[in-house]
Amino acid sequence: MKLLNLDHVGIAVEDLDAALEDYRNRYGVEPLYRERVEAQGVEEAMIPVGGSFVQLLQPLGADTPVGRFLASRGEGLHHVAYAVVDIAAALAHLERQGARLIDREPRAGGRGAKIAFVHPSDLAGTLIELVELSET
Ligand code: CO
Repeated sequence: MKLLNLDHVGIAVEDLDAALEDYRNRYGVEPLYRERVEAQGVEEAMIPVGGSFVQLLQPLGADTPVGRFLASRGEGLHHVAYAVVDIAAALAHLERQGARLIDREPRAGGRGAKIAFVHPSDLAGTLIELVELSET
């Protein structure tokens, strides 16, 4: 298991257009990608900052993980994502360590990446996302 990079921090927002406009005005940054990821029930925008991204997440509906997060906690930091070389090997390692996995198998994320989540109760109250970026 080796973490390559802090790939992104995910922030839940009510209104993606408004949040992007605020980031643009306050910090002078622009999103590099924006896409609807049905598998996760979000529309997301990725803002590059150095070698990492800020990922803004707007839920596609109230009955989605990010929709439920917003209802209970409001806008704010949702997860931290680390890039790994081999996500299947990383999940197998975490399982051997007794980590509380949300995903035992990788699933489809934005940018064509494979992703998996580890439950916030597993370590320091932080939802962790592992990301294996595609080769392209
Ligand atoms: Co993410």
